[in-house]
Amino acid sequence: MKNKIIAGNWKMNKNRAETESFFAELLPLVADTRNTVILCVPFTDLCKAVKSAQGTNIHIGAQNCHWKESGAFTGEIAPSMLVETGVEYVIVGHSERRTYFGETDATVLARTKAALNAGLKPIVCIGETLQERQSGKTEEVLKRQVTEGFADISAEELGRTVVAYEPVWAIGTGVTATDEQANDAIKYVRSVFAEKYGKAVADKLFILYGGSMNDGNAANLLAMSDVDGGLIGGASLVPQKFAAIVHSHR
Ligand code: 13P
Repeated sequence: MKNKIIAGNWKMNKNRAETESFFAELLPLVADTRNTVILCVPFTDLCKAVKSAQGTNIHIGAQNCHWKESGAFTGEIAPSMLVETGVEYVIVGHSERRTYFGETDATVLARTKAALNAGLKPIVCIGETLQERQSGKTEEVLKRQVTEGFADISAEELGRTVVAYEPVWAIGTGVTATDEQANDAIKYVRSVFAEKYGKAVADKLFILYGGSMNDGNAANLLAMSDVDGGLIGGASLVPQKFAAIVHSHR
């Protein structure tokens, strides 16, 4: 059985001092886990987070990166800049970036490719909106996001990539997908990957669930056959809650 990946996404929360105290509290709480623990923090907290996590079992990620290595892209960060900072992972294509900052499957693919080329491990987010689910389009949307968002990603590159299924209607709403909804969607996503890359590659791929996961519902979600872990927003801001999620799968 695969261990799980438990990844926190702080979004636009916490300053440097708060980052330092968060890690001081979290480290002893998760030191003995077999699961992979990742924290994706704001750019300005990365140095503190990397330093705090040095020599521990915690991995650090950013929340976005650009597709070019340098140039006139005001406000963007190049993958190599993240690597230089000691970052290992980067979230790409989060629904908040798709909704508020115009990310498309094409820009998600470009950022994913650039992250991989720089040696980062991308955590690529996909997921349907409430309207898409209610009109029966969930599978159609997921298929498009996988087909177009991974168009020229090789099997070797997919092996260095994590996927997060985050139904938009479950993010920050307190409405979690049921265990079955999460598992069915992830199983479907895995089947789409299997069509292109073969079953062995698709089975190895880590596909996480994200959307109002917390210390109360994590154990059941993580017990589902296809749910390889969680991408956690709100509950990743509190060390005790996040640690409880990490330990909800042993
Ligand atoms: P919440 O856990 O706050 O719903 O956020 C989920 C998410 O968007 C993680 O990327």
